[in-house]
Amino acid sequence: MATTKKNKNYRPIGVFDSGVGGLSVLLELKRVLPHENFVFLADQMYVPYGEKSKSVLVKRVYKIADYFQKYHNIKMMVVACNTATVYTIGELRAKCSFPIVATVPAIKPAAQKTKSGTIAVISTPVTAKSQALKDLIKNNCKNINVLNVGCSHLENLVEQGILNGDYVNNLLLKYLEGIKDSDADCLVLGCTHYPFLKKSIGKILGSRIQIVDSGEAVAKQTRSLLLTNKMKKNPRSRGANLYFTTGDSAQFSKVASKLLKKKVKAKKVKI
Ligand code: DGL
Repeated sequence: MATTKKNKNYRPIGVFDSGVGGLSVLLELKRVLPHENFVFLADQMYVPYGEKSKSVLVKRVYKIADYFQKYHNIKMMVVACNTATVYTIGELRAKCSFPIVATVPAIKPAAQKTKSGTIAVISTPVTAKSQALKDLIKNNCKNINVLNVGCSHLENLVEQGILNGDYVNNLLLKYLEGIKDSDADCLVLGCTHYPFLKKSIGKILGSRIQIVDSGEAVAKQTRSLLLTNKMKKNPRSRGANLYFTTGDSAQFSKVASKLLKKKVKAKKVKI
């Protein structure tokens, strides 16, 4: 049977991150696009991305894009990782023939929301230092003061499924104390692992500081790209999800089941 446009649109959307953090984006994707099929890949052999060099990251994302194309015949890819986006999105777009949705810290919405004129952003150490984040701030925060804080190890806690408790609170306090004591009224979560720490972060910051992440914007951008490319799947059936990791599949399945509040069974892949 010839491949028609209609059945071509049944092809999945590939979504990846260094680890379980990208599941915070997948949750929004599934909410906004419940009929699409998704293949999620956690590159846990290489987590944390936030402490890798650009050249290592570019090699990884090339391999992941090839894997998605060769083994899953994806129609679109979502980079559910700020770190991979800020260091590799240009290279990825130049290489890949399918459309790609990027994840960047939600600086623009935060700049539009702030009343105090001060916002804060927390992200991985390399995202915090990146030119891409500096440019985002420069282009969107003309008269706004921005506290840019790089954080280590927070993603590792989420990788282990540790989302609250003394250790989490003490580590968060180290990064959030200055923000709490500042004029900031908006905190941007610039790493896709952090939405899973939102409750613990909120407890420290209190209700004065609004917490903003990129998940919903990424999902809406994916929907709009599907529409402009005439790639949206027929809504008659619900979408299916497949999960893969380059790390320990039992550990991924355990933590992902906790984060997504449903049973997840992942397969290990060598990429
Ligand atoms: N979740 C990733 C991000 O949004 C990176 C976490 C890491 O592997 O360092 O930046």
